[in-house]
Amino acid sequence: MSTKNFDVVVIGGGPGGYIAAIRAAQLGFNAACIDEWKNEKGGPAPGGTCTNVGCIPSKALLQSSEHFEHANHHFADHGITADNVQIDVAKMIGRKATVVKQNNDGILYLFKKNKVSFFHGRGSFVAAKDGGYEIKVAGAAEETLTAKHVIIATGSNARQLPGAEFDEELILSNDGALRIPATPKKLGVIGSGVIGLEMGSVWRRLGAEVTILEAMPAFLGAADESVAKEAAKVFKKQGLDIQLGVKIASVTKGNGSITIAYADAKGAEQSLVVDKLIVSIGRVPNTIGLNSDAVGLKLDERGAIVVDDECKTNLPNVWAVGDVVRGPMLAHKAEEEGVAVAERIAGQHGHVNFGTIPWVIYTSPEIAWVGKTEQQLKAEGVEYKAGQFPFMANGRARALGDTTGFVKMLADAKTDEILGVHIIGPFASELVSEAVVAMEFKASAEDIARICHAHPSLSEATKEAALAVDKRTLNF
Ligand code: FAD
Ligand code: NAI
Repeated sequence: MSTKNFDVVVIGGGPGGYIAAIRAAQLGFNAACIDEWKNEKGGPAPGGTCTNVGCIPSKALLQSSEHFEHANHHFADHGITADNVQIDVAKMIGRKATVVKQNNDGILYLFKKNKVSFFHGRGSFVAAKDGGYEIKVAGAAEETLTAKHVIIATGSNARQLPGAEFDEELILSNDGALRIPATPKKLGVIGSGVIGLEMGSVWRRLGAEVTILEAMPAFLGAADESVAKEAAKVFKKQGLDIQLGVKIASVTKGNGSITIAYADAKGAEQSLVVDKLIVSIGRVPNTIGLNSDAVGLKLDERGAIVVDDECKTNLPNVWAVGDVVRGPMLAHKAEEEGVAVAERIAGQHGHVNFGTIPWVIYTSPEIAWVGKTEQQLKAEGVEYKAGQFPFMANGRARALGDTTGFVKMLADAKTDEILGVHIIGPFASELVSEAVVAMEFKASAEDIARICHAHPSLSEATKEAALAVDKRTLNF
């Protein structure tokens, strides 16, 4: 076994890690990335949770199931007859696998293009050595590497509910939820967070009766209250049964079914029998296999790697980014941190603005926001103005046949600076970008109101929400 020397070794090839490795190589470093994810043939599958069992496959299934829903329920409005619409779940899952593979292959191509050395296996610390670190790779590749700088990007795993361990047959994590072989008649979901809503929507559209059990008394607590309220109304109408304020008592596996005993919001004992159960109650940072004790890497009580604002750990020249550290568990947050760290290693001033990280929930309607919610501004005692514009009054939304929801803009009462934008409606995931740019450039609501937006476009709703801040909408 030979020793290979690198300036920068990245452990983990998810969006935090692979992007950090590419940026480091672009900056002239001899960079390597170690990732252990295996495809079904045992080959490398870089891209982490995001590519393999997260962002990408979930969006593939959301797309397929939305087509099915449209064919069944909305084509007729356009004069299109589509009788006896069928879904071939195996084919849908196969298409998702192809999309995933395209992304895995794309990352391997990017490593080659940027001259990043890729090692397929588990990376673990051996020891600090000569001002740097020795790292062992075990797996398909068996190597010893040395690194002047190490970037840890080992991501996260689904949180287990005690007494309901994942078997990926009946009790499913995000992994199993993305490859259910046939639409279950009854699907239970524990946790009405992002995964619960996205995966619940997929299987509901395909015909499952979906019940979501949520511990918190309020729905979508992180979102702006008016958005959460609208979302709860729409999801209920769609047939998602979301029960809030529940306390799970037990999860019992039977022969091909699962029984969930729980207390409802009033404390009454309830029982739900389902064919499959998705448990989506958050994720835990993953440091398994890093051998962090060998070098004294500091973890917090949640198991996350302790980092400062610049992603520096307690060890010299060891950095950590993405889901394995504090902050939102989002792919784009991981990527931004990866870029910033590579730039800091190069002596540059990489920066991540946590105040302008967008959030998106890819349900239908989509939900997206950036910045502060109205309830946060109230709690902080910030004086603000709010403007809201419904998609019902937007020509493009009418033409699309999707007029649910609105754009809401919050701006400082004195300076008019935009403090938050909250969208529920068609293509909210795309619309939120304008708000992110505006906030990054510290735009005022008036700035957006004065910018020419294409007609007819959904983005006109953002302009109108900005006009609404000054109580002068033109189309509502
Ligand atoms: P990960 O993507 O988890 O990658 C870590 C990688 O490190 C993995 O490949 C792992 O195998 C590898 N690894 C771990 N330990 C070692 C080791 N010792 N040696 C070698 N390799 C190792 N976020 C969004 O922004 N948008 C979305 O739409 C979205 N959808 C999601 C849907 C689902 C169902 C889930 C579960 C998550 C979703 N997320 C989404 C969250 C997103 O996937 C994560 O925030 C993101 O993947 C974190 O990136 P990361 O690089 O920190 O870690
Ligand atoms: P989450 O944090 O979004 O939601 C978990 C939900 O489970 C919360 O509402 C919580 O109150 C509830 N919960 C916790 N314990 C419970 C219990 N014992 N009983 C009932 N409910 C309980 O976590 P989720 O959905 O698992 O997703 C994990 C992370 O993955 C998200 O935080 C997000 O960062 C990321 N993700 C992002 C997506 C996106 O950006 N579109 C899509 C999917 C996931």
